[in-house]
Amino acid sequence: MILLDGKKISSEIKEEIAAAVSEIKQSGGKVPHLAAMIVGSDGASETYVAHKVKACEQVGFKSTLVRMEADIEEALLLAKIDEINENDDIDGLIVQLPLPSHISEEKVIDRISYRKDVDGFHPVNVGRLFIDQPSYISATPNGIVELIKRYKIETSGKNCVVLGRSNIVGKPMAVLMARKGYPGDATVTLCHSRTMNIEAVCRNADILIVAMGKTEFVTADMVKEGAVVIDVGITRVKSDKTKSGWKLLGDVKFDEVAPKCSYITPVPGGVGPMTIVSLLNNTLKAAKNELYK
Ligand code: GUN
Repeated sequence: MILLDGKKISSEIKEEIAAAVSEIKQSGGKVPHLAAMIVGSDGASETYVAHKVKACEQVGFKSTLVRMEADIEEALLLAKIDEINENDDIDGLIVQLPLPSHISEEKVIDRISYRKDVDGFHPVNVGRLFIDQPSYISATPNGIVELIKRYKIETSGKNCVVLGRSNIVGKPMAVLMARKGYPGDATVTLCHSRTMNIEAVCRNADILIVAMGKTEFVTADMVKEGAVVIDVGITRVKSDKTKSGWKLLGDVKFDEVAPKCSYITPVPGGVGPMTIVSLLNNTLKAAKNELYK
């Protein structure tokens, strides 16, 4: 069993990005600049955005954190997005989700210029992914693809089962694994809460990608011997065994599943750190105008 070490791979990629930024600076090119908006002060969102801003610093990007009050009017938020869309110094814009309930996530995502949509949430980017055109791809599935590539995991002709059909993880993940080429060329099954016999479907998986947000859902009896298991889940639960009083659990019951796997991601330190480097990579592409002129 080999651990898919997202922590290690993500630091290697960050070094590669930092080297690219140094070259840009030496040649007088555009230093990548990410703007991150946070509305209100949701605890988890604060942590995620702080990680993103810190990662920008580590690789030499500029970053701008835009804070909005939780009760901001939707029209004002949209106006701020327009302002950033028109600011030529800013290459990428993300609005941290979830948003307060009086604000439409759909309207917000639609308003971000697809050219700056480094989260890959805009319908133009999602649509282009669907038809194999270059696009910004959302961070979690893109990070998983990168992990598969770096470990040279075979995907062609494999049965890939994705658990969870969210717009930002499950659905794009299924499209990426099914597309032509490497990583891809897999036979993909997308499962969700209404899937019948989900245990049997999982047992048929050569590659099992789990993104349901249900702690320790996947147990050893659901996993084929030699399978690749990728766990996107990360839930904080109380624990009397750690100093902090908390521990992080994935969607896979790691201790019993790991011995059956050829490869498996740990939680934490697997998929999580890869998502941030996806965002950095997208921002670098945006600064270089690689996708859209
Ligand atoms: N909330 C949870 N994941 C994400 C993400 O990847 N991007 C943004 N903007 N919000 C999120």
